[in-house]
Amino acid sequence: MKTSKVVPLRPGLQERRRQPRAVEASPVLAAAVRAGLSASPKTLPAALLYDDLGSALFEAITLLPEYEVTRADLRLLESKAGDVGALLPTADVVELGPGAGRKAKLFLERFAAGRAVRFSAIDVSEAALRDCARTVEQVPHVSVSTVKGRYLDGLNDVVAARRPGVPLLVLFLGSNLSNFDRAEAQGVLFAIRRMLREGDALLLATDLDKPAAQLIPAYDDACGVTAAFNKNLLVRLNRELSANFDVSAFHHEARWSTVHRRIEMHLVATRPLEVTLGATGDVFHFAHGESLWTESSHRFRTDELDGWGHDAGFVTQAQWVDPHWAFAHTLFRVGTSGVTS
Ligand SMILES: C[S@@+](CC[C@H](N)C(=O)[O-])C[C@H]1O[C@@H](n2cnc3c(N)ncnc32)[C@H](O)[C@@H]1O
Repeated sequence: MKTSKVVPLRPGLQERRRQPRAVEASPVLAAAVRAGLSASPKTLPAALLYDDLGSALFEAITLLPEYEVTRADLRLLESKAGDVGALLPTADVVELGPGAGRKAKLFLERFAAGRAVRFSAIDVSEAALRDCARTVEQVPHVSVSTVKGRYLDGLNDVVAARRPGVPLLVLFLGSNLSNFDRAEAQGVLFAIRRMLREGDALLLATDLDKPAAQLIPAYDDACGVTAAFNKNLLVRLNRELSANFDVSAFHHEARWSTVHRRIEMHLVATRPLEVTLGATGDVFHFAHGESLWTESSHRFRTDELDGWGHDAGFVTQAQWVDPHWAFAHTLFRVGTSGVTS
């Protein structure tokens, strides 16, 4: 039997240790949550799903048998990264929302292939950036820097510090673009294009239209990992904004919208609830069956993506589609022409 020695605490220390550690509420987070819970329907930005635990749960989602999205992306990266490297013989690389960096590593091993490349990772999640840096640093000749922040703010910083004369390749993988409404997504492509110069490129990975019967299980898996990922948002708000969500009173739901061609993730109240945000003093009410909409994940058509890229001022240099799960990699270029597929 294992024994352990009990060391008495100094008087007073025991009492203090029982208190939960106070987390300083971020005014930006508080304002976003206050606005989202005051809206109708109640909705929160998908980026809030990614605290440390949310990032870890997302990595678990990528391993689920139902979530073929990641494997399709990885298959294309594995087979086409060398082709991208041939089209961009010198380039530094920046990834928007790399998560734990598994895709970046696989891509850079093939893309860099012995040449010196600077890689920058931009993510809202500190845990993701830590894991990403640790993973990508293993690739020979690749130096890594990280920027904690939102996609476009981070890209702005990276572009401001770019090496003169070296083209930049922006990776936007994992269908991260799909979390934006279509008009916003077009705006994001415009904004990226505006920050780039002739010779730069954007490798955009997007999930394509497919039947709802294939998509729903990918967002509502048998093990309940995606449900945990979704509910963790409430745990985060309880911790970071001193909210009092009863997490067990919410049910995870993945809905398909035919009109918008998107999966929506919701947390549905299973009884009437009053929720207080301790950090702001606001009180919100949920009716029985009312949902909190936490993420949208749109599906795309290849011609739609080409059109958006073209409107933003890109040329489609190549487009590849995974044969097993409709998923596309589109290589957009600034100021060059020619299409391969
Ligand atoms: C769906 S995960 C995908 C991760 C990785 N690209 C992959 O394909 O496995 C989205 C990633 O982007 C980050 N993210 C989400 N919204 C963001 C935003 N608006 N700005 C910066 N990072 C964001 C998340 O923290 C997370 O690491």
